[in-house]
Amino acid sequence: MIYLDNSATTQPKAEVIESFTTVASQYFGNPSSLHALGMDAERLLRKAREQAAQLLGVASHEIIFTSGGTEGNNLAIKGVAWEHQNRGKHLITSKVEHPSVLEACQGLEKQGFEVTYLDVNQQGVIDIQQLKQSLREDTILVSIMHVNNEIGSIQPIDEIGDILQGYPKAFFHVDNVQGYGKVTLSLKKAGVDICTISGHKIHGLKGTGLLYVKNGIRLFPLAHGGGQENRLRSGTENVAGNVSLVKAMRLITAEETNKSTELKERQQQLMARLSTMDDVVINTPKQLKAPHIVHFSVPGLKPEVVIHALEEEAIYISTKSACSSKSADESAVLAACGKEQAIASSGLRVSMSYDTTEAEIEHFCEKLAVIIKKLAKIMR
Ligand SMILES: Cc1ncc(COP(=O)(O)O)c(C=O)c1O
Repeated sequence: MIYLDNSATTQPKAEVIESFTTVASQYFGNPSSLHALGMDAERLLRKAREQAAQLLGVASHEIIFTSGGTEGNNLAIKGVAWEHQNRGKHLITSKVEHPSVLEACQGLEKQGFEVTYLDVNQQGVIDIQQLKQSLREDTILVSIMHVNNEIGSIQPIDEIGDILQGYPKAFFHVDNVQGYGKVTLSLKKAGVDICTISGHKIHGLKGTGLLYVKNGIRLFPLAHGGGQENRLRSGTENVAGNVSLVKAMRLITAEETNKSTELKERQQQLMARLSTMDDVVINTPKQLKAPHIVHFSVPGLKPEVVIHALEEEAIYISTKSACSSKSADESAVLAACGKEQAIASSGLRVSMSYDTTEAEIEHFCEKLAVIIKKLAKIMR
């Protein structure tokens, strides 16, 4: 099997599963319980929080464990909007965000909030001038992703953070689900107030994640109850999941340090091979891109058909993410980048991990070339 769909989800590392199993079986107490079992669980949870904070360069009380990216983004966006609506009801985001951001914003519009959706250029990057022009006295939140999940473009997070220093009323939320462990981001340096991370994108388990919430920022919780996670996320803590998340964070941080060059080489190899194929248009930008994603289109071919043909060769890639789009088979992200319909509706995404090998990429390219030739005859 050649697995090249790591932006959809990653294979959990054995060490991550082991840490989950150990904690789930041996430390099953409720961290709120006063007896020894509860205290053991509480100690593990505290340690996990401290380690997560250390890895992100923040304080441990700024870490809120969640169930993943979707919850984190919803808590950030609705949490700010509902808690701070007396200060203003205007939010800014971009047209290429993940549905968990876009639909949270659309939900808020139905409740009387106003949202500006920033345009992006051909490379999928927002226009800083448009951001500056869109900022208002009543803007309470700017939510911009770090790395785009479809084409891998990187947004100018440091620059946005700088601009927002002049707007103390507007919080800055970054969806770093695709960037964490692949593209370095210093939350403190970039002036990020709230940041979303998901476990299953970094070889952790599904249903794990965290939200960084800068000291002192109040959010309206999505779930009320026992007041866990700094009163922001009530419900008995997923101690085993949270411990395993931190294990995944530690492992990916080491890989980012030691294996970044190899991953960039794999990406170059893949982009170079794709650029020699006549029918292929590469959508991932040449500059300022995350190292693990290569997105391309084969105009005229249905992406699902290519995916299933590759699947018969035990190669797994994906088409556009299941996000909202005007036309059923058009990628909203590619459309926002101004790509013509034939390109926007024939997108394919290869997403690698630090374990992807040169031979795997070579094998994938060979099979893809054969499949495109064969399908082109039938479908065009
Ligand atoms: C950029 C981005 N944000 C948020 C999410 C949602 O994360 P999760 O699957 O953990 O809910 C994803 C998942 O694809 C993503 O790519």
